[in-house]
Formats: sequence, structure tokens, C-alpha cells
Amino acid sequence: GRNLWVLVVGRFPKEHRIGIPEFKYVANMHGDETVGRELLLHLIDYLVTSDGKDPEITNLINSTRIHIMPSMNPDGFEAVKKPDCYYSIGRENYNQYDLNRNFPDAFEYNNVSRQPETVAVMKWLKTETFVLSANLHGGALVASYPFDNGVQATGALYSRSLTPDDDVFQYLAHTYASRNPNMKKGDECKNKMNFPNGVTNGYSWYPLQGGMQDYNYIWAQCFEITLELSCCKYPREEKLPSFWNNNKASLIEYIKQVHLGVKGQVFDQNGNPLPNVIVEVQDRKHICPYRTNKYGEYYLLLLPGSYIINITVPGYDPHLTKVIIPEKSQNFSALKKDILLPFQEQLDSIPVSNPSCPMIPLYRNLPDHSAATKPSLFLFLVSLLHIFFK
Ligand SMILES: *[C@@H]1O[C@H](CO)[C@@H](O)[C@H](O)[C@H]1NC(C)=O
Ligand SMILES: *[C@@H]1O[C@H](CO)[C@@H](O)[C@H](O)[C@H]1NC(C)=O
Ligand SMILES: *[C@@H]1O[C@H](CO)[C@@H](O)[C@H](O)[C@H]1NC(C)=O
Ligand SMILES: *[C@@H]1O[C@H](CO)[C@@H](O)[C@H](O)[C@H]1NC(C)=O
Ligand SMILES: [Zn+2]
Repeated sequence: GRNLWVLVVGRFPKEHRIGIPEFKYVANMHGDETVGRELLLHLIDYLVTSDGKDPEITNLINSTRIHIMPSMNPDGFEAVKKPDCYYSIGRENYNQYDLNRNFPDAFEYNNVSRQPETVAVMKWLKTETFVLSANLHGGALVASYPFDNGVQATGALYSRSLTPDDDVFQYLAHTYASRNPNMKKGDECKNKMNFPNGVTNGYSWYPLQGGMQDYNYIWAQCFEITLELSCCKYPREEKLPSFWNNNKASLIEYIKQVHLGVKGQVFDQNGNPLPNVIVEVQDRKHICPYRTNKYGEYYLLLLPGSYIINITVPGYDPHLTKVIIPEKSQNFSALKKDILLPFQEQLDSIPVSNPSCPMIPLYRNLPDHSAATKPSLFLFLVSLLHIFFK
């Protein structure tokens, strides 16, 4: 029955403004993984006290709307009796559900009872067009990127599961890991895990069903990675200042990445913004196509380079347009490109065919699920030892 609190930091925190991308951090969905929760509280303090003093933070706050949820599982956090580095009661919520196995899954039918925390987050994701996010955990030190689950078509036969945006995800994970002096070493925890440069594909590490990161990317148009921030899930209080020192630069730099790529609005000939138009990059087709929001806006996270953007109003021919994302730093704004479509119709006469992606089962549309081999030895070992991280 505890509330899930979100604090929004921005120049206009109470509402979306056109051109200002929405970013979020969520921590403590496993109640016994406490470092992220404390780091986010500290981050809030740091952002609001640096505003107007530190030019970089001021710029960030001027150009970004930052949503921070320090605890997604407050009941689990309160349930921890004896803080432990490896396993405590509070991982699950009050009903004993692991919230990072509780979301719809695109690759397998995830028949679980959707928990109030999960339902609340799914509703929250519908209220904004979140562009970039991270999900903070503990028990290991690594930046892990989607997918966490997969099929043959995503590379599961090779013990990995990659998105069409893999270059961007690797870049995002490296952006975080490379600024954290312990994470980037890749082998700092005494559990024999070795992650080159402190980065891994989620599925390669170990597959999981119903995770929040894949859900964000597939259904909420939001790129999310999973950050494992401490070898010990619930370290002693005295360690907190060193966790802040090791993560501060990464936390700030990661938020700035919401300004990668290209953004803009799609209009008809009369200058009316067009919602629900599919805006995708060629050769980066998402399972659920990414669409403009109610202001006709799109945000596409892309690395510097040349791309073809494919804009489709269902029932009409696609409109293709080329963009070149420059090499130089974007300076708190993605490349801005508005697009005019050759329509005269009024806004509400544009057909909207099935605006939300079918929930379940998407995996039936994907090739051969059963042929996927999972990296099962590690999974077997972690189940045996009851050690789960993400
Ligand atoms: C941030 O926004 C404030 C208020 O709109 C403005 O006065 C200030 O110049 C801006 N600062 C930066 C660094 O963009
Ligand atoms: C889902 O789980 C419920 C309860 O365990 C069960 O009754 C139901 O048959 C399951 N549905 C499917 C499609 O597996
Ligand atoms: C553009 O997108 C539409 C709808 O998603 C698709 O049918 C079409 O093949 C795409 N065209 C190109 C050239 O990528
Ligand atoms: C980025 O923006 C800031 C504030 O608007 C400005 O002072 C700075 O020169 C800009 N940097 C680049 C590389 O454009
Ligand atoms: Zn976790």
C-alpha cells in the first residue's frame, strides 16, 4: 500500500514542452538492492542545488525533463530484516512477486499476475513519451542492455539477443560504465564474473522473462538499460559517499544522452501536428513501430551518421527523408527536423489503425522460438545459489 514517488526536475517540471525530451531513472525495484535508491535521492539534491550555479547542470535542466523514481518497490525495501550482500527477503514485493519478471514479454507468454507496482509503471509510461531511461539494481557491477529475452531472430542461437539499435545501446552502456572507475574494470566483484569494459548484453549474461527494460524498449518507445551498481546488494551506510563519487559523472553523462540523434514534429500541409504517425529509421524496425505523440513529435536516438527516416500514415505511401546526424557534440539538443507531409486533410481524418501495439502474444509473429538455446549453465548455477541481480 505504499506510494511510488516520482520527482520531476526541469525548467517546466509540471508539463511536457514540445522539443524537451523526457528522461527517467527508476531504482530499487528489487527492495533489497538499495544503492540506486540512495544515489537517486542524492542526485535529486545535487541537481536542484546546482541549478543556476553549475552551467552544465543548468543547461541540462533547461533542456531536459528528468523523472526520478527512487523506489519502485518500497514494500520490499521495508521488508528487509537483515541487510545482506547476496540475498534478502525484500527482493520481491509484498505479494512475493519479482517485479523485474512481471511485465508483458514480447518473446514468450508471461502468465503472471500483474502487480500493482507494475501496473502503475505501465500506466506511467503511457502518460509521457519517455525517450531514455535506466533501471538501477545491485549485486553486480555492469551496464546491461537489451534484450533480456529473445528468439532466434534476435540472435538467441548465439547466446545473445540484440536490438536493431544495438550500436546505440552499446554506446549508452559504455557511456555509463566508462565513467565509473570500478565498473569499467569489469571484474571487481568477487563472484568470478567478467564483463569486458563493464558492459554486457542482458541475454548473454542470463535471459529473463517479463523484464522492465525490454518492455520499455518494445512497448513504450523508451530506450532503457539496466545498471548494476554495487557488488553488495545492501552495503553498509558508510560506503554510500564512495558510491556517489563513483557514479556521479556517469549518472549526469547518461542523462545527457537523451539528446542524441534527431527530433522534431510531423505536420500536414496546413501546419497541424500529426499524432500516431509511424516514424522509423530504415533497417531499424521496432517490434511495435515508434509513433508520434499527441503533439506530432518524434525522438530518435541515433549515433552520428546518415540515415533514412520512414514516415508512414497507415493507409498511405511511406514518406522517406534523409538526415545526417553531425559528429560534433549536440550541446543539449538533438538535431531538429520537422517534417511536412503532403496531406490536406484535417487532423482527425487521418486513420489511426491500432494505435497501441498488440500486447500478447507478439512472439507468435517472430520466427521459431523453440530453436533458441539459452545459456543455461549459468542460469542453473544462479538458480541453485538463489542469487539474482537484474
Ligand atoms: C536556463 O533557463 C533560464 C530560464 O529560462 C535562463 O535564464 C538561463 O539563461 C538558461 N541557462 C542556460 C545555461 O541555458
Ligand atoms: C495462467 O495461469 C493461471 C493461474 O496459474 C492458469 O489458471 C491459466 O490456465 C494460465 N493460462 C495460460 C494460458 O497458461
Ligand atoms: C516504411 O515503413 C512502412 C511501414 O512500417 C513499411 O511498410 C515500408 O516497407 C517502409 N519502407 C521502407 C523503404 O523502409
Ligand atoms: C553549448 O551551449 C552553451 C549554452 O547555450 C554555450 O555556451 C556553448 O558555447 C555551446 N557549445 C557548443 C559546442 O555549441
Ligand atoms: Zn535487481
